[in-house]
Amino acid sequence: AFAGCTSSEAATGDGQGGVGEKSVYSVGIDVPYPPFSKMDTDGNPTGFDVDSIRWIAENQGFEVKFEVVAWDGIIPALQAGQIDMVYSGMTITDERLEKVNFSIPYWTVNQMVVVVPGSGVTIDDIKEGNAIIGTQSGCTAAIWMEENLIDTGIMAKENLKVYPDTTKAVDDLTTGRIDAVMYDDLSLKDIIGGRDVENIGSIETNEEFGIAVRKDDTELLNKLNAGLTNLMADPYWEELKVQYDMV
Ligand code: ARG
Repeated sequence: AFAGCTSSEAATGDGQGGVGEKSVYSVGIDVPYPPFSKMDTDGNPTGFDVDSIRWIAENQGFEVKFEVVAWDGIIPALQAGQIDMVYSGMTITDERLEKVNFSIPYWTVNQMVVVVPGSGVTIDDIKEGNAIIGTQSGCTAAIWMEENLIDTGIMAKENLKVYPDTTKAVDDLTTGRIDAVMYDDLSLKDIIGGRDVENIGSIETNEEFGIAVRKDDTELLNKLNAGLTNLMADPYWEELKVQYDMV
């Protein structure tokens, strides 16, 4: 799927504009990941990260277009040059740093857990591997469970159910197919909205979000770090947080 935005006709998407033209960078996003990356009712990309990169692009003199890529394939897509950055709530991890570079951090999350109301499932049940837990394929909640519960033999690997996106996991929770959903706190709060599920708390992972770029793309990384630094010092940064209910 492709959602075009402000690309110029001659754009190639490799960040190399022609003479006198602005570079156009392709921003990889996975949706829905509210409030950071999502589609508006007209099918255009919106959200905290989307608005942030539009501001940074303006500030640093480049253009952006958006491309929707499945989360579990988004780093390979970046490495292959299909997109030039991932700006979609990506946690900076040591494993990912072996493949890509990250900007300075701009947001922090922990892993929140929701269950069926009244089911009695506790955070301890989660940590002891006694629940069927759903989350998004390739996300840090899945990685946390693999490393801390499955690889250690605490939880059977069948107890982890992965979905292309977390809204599908919440659907399965509300119909009783799984016992819990674990995901980035702010996004999970947004995803459950007014649905009949119970937040039983969080597992502290203290994950920091950054913008991912290819290892060799220091030019883009420098622009992103400069733009992000300027944005975070600008009143617009606080306005965005208010706009997306993040404060
Ligand atoms: N922060 C988590 C991670 O890095 C989940 C991010 C999911 N982002 C998305 N656009 N679906 O794996």
